[in-house]
Amino acid sequence: MDRATRTLTVLGLESSCDDTAVAVVRHDPGAAPEILSSVVAGQTQLHAAFGGVVPEIAARAHVEKLDHCVEAALSEAKLTLAGIDVIAVTAGPGLIGGVLSGVMCAKGLAAGAGLPLIGVNHLAGHALTPRLTDGVKFPYLMLLVSGGHCQFLIVEGSDRFRRLGGTIDDAPGEAFDKTAKLLGLDQPGGPAVEAEARGGDEARFAFPRPLLDRPGCDMSFSGLKTALLRARDQVVSEKGGLTQVDRADLCASFQAAVRDLLAEKSRRALAEYMDANPANPVFAVAGGVAANGAIRAALQDTARGAGARFLAPPLALCTDNAAMIAWAGMEEFRRGQLSDMTLGARPRWPLDTTQPALLGSGKKGAKA
Ligand code: KG4
Ligand code: ZN
Repeated sequence: MDRATRTLTVLGLESSCDDTAVAVVRHDPGAAPEILSSVVAGQTQLHAAFGGVVPEIAARAHVEKLDHCVEAALSEAKLTLAGIDVIAVTAGPGLIGGVLSGVMCAKGLAAGAGLPLIGVNHLAGHALTPRLTDGVKFPYLMLLVSGGHCQFLIVEGSDRFRRLGGTIDDAPGEAFDKTAKLLGLDQPGGPAVEAEARGGDEARFAFPRPLLDRPGCDMSFSGLKTALLRARDQVVSEKGGLTQVDRADLCASFQAAVRDLLAEKSRRALAEYMDANPANPVFAVAGGVAANGAIRAALQDTARGAGARFLAPPLALCTDNAAMIAWAGMEEFRRGQLSDMTLGARPRWPLDTTQPALLGSGKKGAKA
């Protein structure tokens, strides 16, 4: 049977940032894909003392954990390598040492077991997740919003992505993490800031909504961090410290600014996407920041306003994982896009090559 129609079982490896992940996904084209296992070994503790991901520590941890994760994923799927048809691995973008660790491990597995190898773009993994979870048809609009990514993509095919815009500096998750740090809250900052914000007054601090005055879908979050720092210092200099109420108001005002920015830029991205009259319009989100209740609700309202279905995959598949890499590898393999032993690691790898390259670097390495 040919590769487009037969049932395939793919082993996926992900190590582009601070999660070592391995998963097994099986797909019979006549049925919904099945995630047979999805193992994620995080590294939060290893980096906690440094206030960000340290690339060399991350790469070493990946080298140590990859083999164990492969064994765990196979055993959870009740398989051996003999039951695998394809090895898929994140080949970029990301921290080069981590990506290299995964690529080398995948090459070893593919060569040892005589299996085809597919190098997957990490962002394509995120962007194709709604097809894994919900069987969504092309074209759909996607917002990737995490600690390392922030961009709008029209996903036109498994290898065709149109980037409508994205951050020109930091990713929103990074801004949440920085906010938490400035206010003495726990890391990762997103959930901590969201919890504080619940009791706060979002109207107390007038934080900027950068780039709303400019057309298009580009966004900026670095000014927001500076504004928060200034507001905090102002309160501290007036009162000699921050009260619980000050902290809650700062968090609520910050979160409202991110929410408004993402909602308005989503409205514009949706307008551009809906212009082409897609048959079953879908607006999907992925990334850790999509876990934020206030932001998620605002994005859902925006989708409803535009007449599109809103889709947020389960959080474990929104954040970094290897099931999305196995799935993206599956789509590539079915199209006949195979890699070989010359596969390299790419720190930068934009999905839409028609767009100019982005400069700057985020907490999690090169921006994509
Ligand atoms: O997708 P993810 O797990 O990893 C990558 O960045 O690739 O996203 C993690 C980011 C962190 O910056 C974290 O603070 C943020 O997502 N995050 C949140 C929330 N939960 C996680 N941001 C805002 N609100 C949340 N509830
Ligand atoms: Zn990611």
